[in-house]
Amino acid sequence: MYLEGTYGLVVIFNDQTDLLMGARNGSPLVVGVGDGEMFLASDAAAFIGLSRQAIFLEDGELVIIRKNSYRTVNQQNLEIKKEIEEIDIEEKSAGKGDFPHFLLKEIFEQPESITRALGSGGRLIKEYGTAKLGGLNLEKRDFFDINHIRIIGMGTAYYAGMVGASCIESLARIPVTVSDASELKLSNPIITRDTLYLAVSQSGETADTIAAVKEIQNRGGRVLGIVNSVGSTLARMTEGGVYIHAGREVSVASTKVFTAQVTVLFLLALLIGRMRDISLSKGKRLVEEVMTIPEKLRSILMMNEEIKAIAATCTGAESVLFLSRGINHAVALEGALKLKEITYIHAEGFSAGWLKHGPLALVSKGTPCVFIAVEDNTFEKTIGNIQEVKARQGRIILITDSDNPEVHSLADDLIIIPKTDPVLSPILTVVPLQLFSYYIAELLGRDIDRPRNLAKSVTTE
Ligand code: AGP
Repeated sequence: MYLEGTYGLVVIFNDQTDLLMGARNGSPLVVGVGDGEMFLASDAAAFIGLSRQAIFLEDGELVIIRKNSYRTVNQQNLEIKKEIEEIDIEEKSAGKGDFPHFLLKEIFEQPESITRALGSGGRLIKEYGTAKLGGLNLEKRDFFDINHIRIIGMGTAYYAGMVGASCIESLARIPVTVSDASELKLSNPIITRDTLYLAVSQSGETADTIAAVKEIQNRGGRVLGIVNSVGSTLARMTEGGVYIHAGREVSVASTKVFTAQVTVLFLLALLIGRMRDISLSKGKRLVEEVMTIPEKLRSILMMNEEIKAIAATCTGAESVLFLSRGINHAVALEGALKLKEITYIHAEGFSAGWLKHGPLALVSKGTPCVFIAVEDNTFEKTIGNIQEVKARQGRIILITDSDNPEVHSLADDLIIIPKTDPVLSPILTVVPLQLFSYYIAELLGRDIDRPRNLAKSVTTE
């Protein structure tokens, strides 16, 4: 008998309590090797408190487990030798600590997760104003041959990719496109030698992203992974990449992973940028600036009571709009995704320039419109859009780094965040949006960590 399709399968036997069999094809399956005990799980994080030794099965492989032994075979029942790997996952991320939900804990962890994404400074070279990313498996000279970057991902990973695209284009002056992995794999994609493909994923197990990577690789494309989950399928199938080291993310809604993904994409942009376009002094300034981000994040987290009060006034909203421009356009989209996902309130994100092309018709008296306006080259235009919404009596919730009282006076609710370089601003602007959604969901009594109809990793296409 031959089994077809996508599966991660464990078979138990009524009459043999010391026997387990596992098989995978397309879905993850990991064996934990303990002391007189063995584990089978879809993610090593499930047994991390019990064993740190793991064997990662590949597609088409089977494992036969007994209490003290295991045997791995292929579909022809031929024995295959698998290395035991040491798992490097922080165990302390397994509990909620003093927080009522994993989501709130993960939002508050961001100063630390960003610090880890920066390798506590070890991924930065201060004197050369650049970054050091060991796992890329690329020589510096290889970067001269890259004329295009294509980032793929789904959901929040896709939006982090959009931020990364703006950052790379701004610092490295290489054109970047961002693709919905579920669309790319079916689109007969054009794969070129001088394009670098980046697969962005928290779990490393998203079926759409894996299928897109396979399609690119089958056509000879070079794919690197920007992945959180150590040893995951994507981390293993790509030719190199960077772990974002955000730590285990339990809540279905992604928060600390978004900011860590953006941080790592910034590091990549800085690395390529310093080879191409940006000066030593600008590189040094950016290195110094990114090191201040964790502290700036802490100061935003301290505004949680103010943000909770704003959230309390939006629990009855039928729909919320999120608007911004430039690099923060993706943050508006991410803010809308977070609100939909955990509160079930309808939300849409747009570029503020898109407003007059349709969405402005949605604005009536009191419609909550969340604007992100940082003082970059898009600022004046965004302020103009705020005025347009105000003229229609929409309610303005403004997240800004501006200290201009005239700008502040446009807002019904105001959240002032610290200033940073515009390319780093999404790491700060997204945090009030995460808290805003969290507090609305809490007030509405939603199942915050496990929103209805959704799964943490989407392992089917
Ligand atoms: C984010 O809040 C969502 N849960 C979802 O969009 C997620 O980002 C997407 O499914 C991609 O997952 P991945 O990062 O594990 O590939």
